[in-house]
Amino acid sequence: MNVIVMGQGYVGLPLAMAAVDAGHHVIGFEPDPHRSASLRDGRSYVEDIPGKQLHAALASGRYQPTDDRTLIGDFDVAAITVPTPLRDRQPDLSYVRNAVETLADHLPAGATVILESTTHPGTTRELVVPILEEATGWRAGEDFHVAFSPERIDPGNERWTFENTPKIVAGLTTRCQVRALEFYASITQHVVSADSLEAAELAKVFENTYRHVNIALVNELGRLAHVLGVDVWHTLELAATKPFGFTKFTPGPGVGGHCLPVDPVYLTHHARTQHGHAVRLVELAQDVNDGQPDYVVSRLQDTLNSRFQRSLSGARILALGLAYKPGTADVRESPAVAVTEMLAAKGASVDAVEPHLAQVTACDFRAIPRDLGIYDAVVLLTPHDDFDLQHVADHARYVLDTRGVMPAAPHIERL
Ligand SMILES: NC(=O)c1ccc[n+]([C@@H]2O[C@H](COP(=O)([O-])OP(=O)(O)OC[C@H]3O[C@@H](n4cnc5c(N)ncnc54)[C@H](O)[C@@H]3O)[C@@H](O)[C@H]2O)c1
Repeated sequence: MNVIVMGQGYVGLPLAMAAVDAGHHVIGFEPDPHRSASLRDGRSYVEDIPGKQLHAALASGRYQPTDDRTLIGDFDVAAITVPTPLRDRQPDLSYVRNAVETLADHLPAGATVILESTTHPGTTRELVVPILEEATGWRAGEDFHVAFSPERIDPGNERWTFENTPKIVAGLTTRCQVRALEFYASITQHVVSADSLEAAELAKVFENTYRHVNIALVNELGRLAHVLGVDVWHTLELAATKPFGFTKFTPGPGVGGHCLPVDPVYLTHHARTQHGHAVRLVELAQDVNDGQPDYVVSRLQDTLNSRFQRSLSGARILALGLAYKPGTADVRESPAVAVTEMLAAKGASVDAVEPHLAQVTACDFRAIPRDLGIYDAVVLLTPHDDFDLQHVADHARYVLDTRGVMPAAPHIERL
């Protein structure tokens, strides 16, 4: 098949590579000229795609990364993997709209357009289909096909990859679904048919909302346990011995990345503005998780006061990890960044360590410095594998461990 993948980011690049591996001819359309040039040079900026794999794809002659719209033309399948961020705390579907408009100008008869970006229920039917129909004068489901297939990629996860994670596929019509299923069956091991576009769209936002709400619940539990003088991490270990009906989530400095802080807002905002329906539990979870960086800062402030008779203003703090999760350089919506900014705003002198960022702007080190004695406190925000936590335990004066991974010791406090 001739395939176009719109957007070569965390989702689009692995999809393009999988399609090339399956023998398809793939155009990876990426409007960011730096990114498309980097891909043409064989330099990957997505951790899960090693340069070797990119080189092999380029060498096969079946992968063409480009920012040239005129190359968009003769395709059987187009998958849209563009950002769906928030703008002013509201869903921003402008990238999806732009990508669909670009495809609409070049849509071949009989082609299948698949939306992969995470969004609220109704987007494929109410946004994607009308743009394509109006631009072409054709009818979706008859002259061309439209589908929705949410991406579940988990960057850095080696157990669950693009190939072995089940892929939900929904079509505007049965024929649309069959076309999309044919494509995904050629590149992934498990496909799952959804009854409607909206059921698939809702399933995707619900998956991330489920995680978001449960993280908020343990963050709330952590605050309560601290008031009660109970170790929340031990409590969670105890609860997790129940072999049924309990899934363990852990507290932390908040939620980050492109998904958890964003996707639930697509659900709640759409429900409120389009249907006058408040999804209250989810909105509350947003409040709890949004407040977590502030909570970390207040815990640090309290300890400096009570243990060291020191104010946060003027204190020297070392922050470990800026990415939103271990093993990645992704700092989008990262609560770790929020914590360092809040500490600095309160007058602390903050150094940060982030080994995964190629260009360090907000941080000062790419590895943990040897001399930790100069810091009043170390705050562990993102426990990257390459952090020598024993060195931190041995040499730091005080550590606030927001992830519950440090060994127990009098000078180490867990959130
Ligand atoms: N990152 C994840 O772990 C993940 C997991 C599952 C789902 N998703 C969803 O997948 C979608 C994409 O996320 P991502 O993390 O890959 O984003 P990303 O920012 O890494 O990549 C998106 C790419 O699309 C490009 N782009 C922007 N406008 C475009 C246009 N009009 N046409 C073509 N390309 C365009 C951008 O330049 C960027 O390179 C989002 O909806 C996200 O919620 C992400």
